Amino acid sequence: MKLKSVYVCSECGHETPKWFGKCPSCENYNTFVEEVVEKEKKVNYNFKKPESLKEIKSMSENRISTKIAELDRVLSGGIVEGSLILVGGDPGIGKSTLLLQICQSIGDSGKDILYVSGEESNRQIKLRAERLSITTEKLLILSETNIGIIEESIRKVNPKLVIIDSIQTMFREEIASVPGSVSQVRESTQTFMKIAKSLNISIIIVGHVTKEGALAGPKVLEHMVDTVLYFEGEKGMSYRIIRAVKNRFGSTNEIGVFEMKEKGLVEIKNPSEYMLLGRPLGVPGSSVTCNIEGTRPILTEIQALVCPTSFGMPRRMASGLDYNRVVMLMAVLEKRAGLALGTYDSYVNVAGGLKITETSIDAAVVASILSSYKNKFIDPYLMVFGEVGLTGEIRAVPMAEKRVAEAGKLGFKKCVLPKANVKSLKNIGDIEIKAVNNIVELLEFII
Ligand code: TYD
Ligand code: MG
Repeated sequence: MKLKSVYVCSECGHETPKWFGKCPSCENYNTFVEEVVEKEKKVNYNFKKPESLKEIKSMSENRISTKIAELDRVLSGGIVEGSLILVGGDPGIGKSTLLLQICQSIGDSGKDILYVSGEESNRQIKLRAERLSITTEKLLILSETNIGIIEESIRKVNPKLVIIDSIQTMFREEIASVPGSVSQVRESTQTFMKIAKSLNISIIIVGHVTKEGALAGPKVLEHMVDTVLYFEGEKGMSYRIIRAVKNRFGSTNEIGVFEMKEKGLVEIKNPSEYMLLGRPLGVPGSSVTCNIEGTRPILTEIQALVCPTSFGMPRRMASGLDYNRVVMLMAVLEKRAGLALGTYDSYVNVAGGLKITETSIDAAVVASILSSYKNKFIDPYLMVFGEVGLTGEIRAVPMAEKRVAEAGKLGFKKCVLPKANVKSLKNIGDIEIKAVNNIVELLEFII
């Protein structure tokens, strides 16, 4: 058989017949590695009869509940039998912790679990399990990185759920490249896919991500698996968000919110309350808005600090939200509301470390900047949302009713929102509504 080599980008998986210094696809330097592929033999294929859609029998998938409501929600009800799930996230964010935690409830429901670790020894896992109070007898631990051995062990043990921690440590002996390389990761994932589908075993694989946020090495991995979950969270902050970015068995609109505690990850049932915990009341530069994560409304505090510039150039800083958007909103404030921000330093921050990309928080950014500029506080039980346009208009945003209802639930008394959103409001209780057309009306009302 003739051997052929291809060059594969270890960042994005782009394949070329020759080596490049810079990847033409993701533009990273020095990422191409050589891979040997076997030239395919000539084979004859037979015809396969397609089935009529009408005749295909439908059946609902069997799901294994993890008994952790926040995780089940992201998985649209639980782990589908025979599915391959990828759990990605920064090293140290809590992937192994969460996966060990779900073993308890799944084991309690009588299902066998095989936890394969290529990163920790059996003793280390035992220590962690003790810390997390995991006592189930249904959990088997295997410290191994050789795919061939793991495959045989899975066939022999025949568990309901397999956890592979992590895919970057796994290797197949027949392949020359090192563990973590594109070809090893791809081969290992393919093997697990085959096992999952042929034996109807659910397999969860852990993948570490690089600092750019991509799965280390292979983006290819995402295409191969059924479901991709990502862990998000800030270093130094204890909350963690799990988001589905791909789900062949349900929606990708959900998030799960957790807090890392002494004894593992604990669900946060009410993220709004958590995000507003300890916020200052009655101080200038703070306002509360509601952003939608997936389908869940989360109340967040937007803070601004505006103070005279001591050097020639005013400084602007944005954390948790888009810098350019903040600069644009400040320009709108200068032009349309007459604020002289050119001689002031401005800092805008989403309290709690959340990252928000939604434009619905514009109105709160504008409100907080004005509040700090005027040194007057905004009613702490007032919630404000709406997108701000370049002419200073306040534009409608989706899911207004949900946002207002969330504020009502947490005891907010007033809500300032875009006029165009008012007619969509129905069941909102007794919260006072103030509809505004533009930022001038908004600013007049809140200060
Ligand atoms: P871990 O699950 O090992 O991360 P990953 O598998 O994603 O690399 O999480 C390790 C971090 O979590 C570590 O910094 C310690 C912390 N931790 C707790 O705070 N409480 C706990 O109960 C456990 C087990 C870990
Ligand atoms: Mg780990």
